[in-house]
Amino acid sequence: MSAERLFADHLNHLLTEYASALQACDFADQPVLVGSGISHSYYADDLAIPFRAWGHFLRWLPVDRPDQFVLFRHGKKPVFFAVIPQDFWHDQSLELPGWWADLYDIRILPDKHQLEAQLKTLIPDHQLLFLGEDVNLAAALGARPGHVNPASLIAYLDYYRAYKTRYEVQRIADANALALTGHQAAHEAFLDGKDEFGIHMAYLTACRALDHELPYPSIVGVNEHAAILHYQLKKRRSAAVDPALNKALLIDAGCRSFAYCSDITRTWVRPGVHEVFAALLSGMQKLQRNIIRTIAVGQSYVQLHEATHESLAELLIESGIAVGSSRELLEEEVTSAFLPHGLGHFLGLQVHDCGGRLASPDGTTKQPPSRYPALRTTRTLENGMVFTIEPGLYFIPALLDKLRTGRRQALLNWTLIEELLPLGGIRIEDNIWLNEGTAHNLTLKPLLSA
Ligand code: GLY
Ligand code: MN
Ligand code: MN
Repeated sequence: MSAERLFADHLNHLLTEYASALQACDFADQPVLVGSGISHSYYADDLAIPFRAWGHFLRWLPVDRPDQFVLFRHGKKPVFFAVIPQDFWHDQSLELPGWWADLYDIRILPDKHQLEAQLKTLIPDHQLLFLGEDVNLAAALGARPGHVNPASLIAYLDYYRAYKTRYEVQRIADANALALTGHQAAHEAFLDGKDEFGIHMAYLTACRALDHELPYPSIVGVNEHAAILHYQLKKRRSAAVDPALNKALLIDAGCRSFAYCSDITRTWVRPGVHEVFAALLSGMQKLQRNIIRTIAVGQSYVQLHEATHESLAELLIESGIAVGSSRELLEEEVTSAFLPHGLGHFLGLQVHDCGGRLASPDGTTKQPPSRYPALRTTRTLENGMVFTIEPGLYFIPALLDKLRTGRRQALLNWTLIEELLPLGGIRIEDNIWLNEGTAHNLTLKPLLSA
């Protein structure tokens, strides 16, 4: 299907969804102004922090800049207020490609305060509903407090954002295809003996991306750094390149396609790495594939997470890291020390997309089981959802230390653990689209671009 067609269908879906949302939240027939957000500077400085537009704005159109607005009105062409300041310090040019721009009534304004006059003519008899960060502007435009980011409306939109349109799935697939070129380059750089900085640069160059364009700061952890879950550094080595310094690499890096994200993790080892670690890596790859195979409509994501811990317990026993039964390891919460994060999360305009813990569009939440507080998704899986599956197994000194007492100490082979600690850990992360009852792996099989 063409890009034009995909986007037109997406926009129609969004128009219908907003109409239903307004109806459900007792705002029927009201117009809604959605803002992209405000540019912020560093404290006591005039330097702007890299900007990221709000997901509910980006869902309307791919303009990732501050002070942009979309006006939704029932049965009318949506209006895009493109605020383009008279600014000679920055490039303010804005591309308006026909595939999306033709579907909007576009009004170019030199500053956001001109919105007031526009709205007076466009929605003369209506109360304004405002969604977005710029609540001062909302007040200046006359929106009443109950009409600014009403919690009921935001919850409804968050809940349904979990169901992606074909346009959105295509974008996430494109973001996967792009990130995979980076992952391949990163793997080669790792085998070449490059340091974390060099591996990171190889990734960026292959993706032709700047750091701030990525969905999140890439995690590039060589050896023990893989055990720091959101490791943020990219260490530069001063010593001459010695490929043997790179024993293992965990790289968690994505890309964005028209603001939609991918989120992919690969773990690589050099030949000759500790044989138990190599076995754990293939065990985790198999475990991840098996979990993906069990995905079905109606399945609880919490159950998938629990099944992951059961398989992890078996892998720990098989590899000789743990003794006893898998039931015992689960009861003693031993697996949680090796896998302290959740199995995954929704993916879309945010890498951790919204609505993962909403049980209903009315805003009721479902919290994860108390033993798995980091699990971001407690929803029942349904067609149209896109989410990650990212089991991990890490040797995190601070968490392992808590197992060094009582019954739990006797369940683990500490000599082996000491040997594996310098290798950090393993995570395998793919992006899954549940479609027509089948889990489609967008990372392994990105859809052909429209
Ligand atoms: N890249 C962060 C995550 O995997 O959730
Ligand atoms: Mn990730
Ligand atoms: Mn993730």
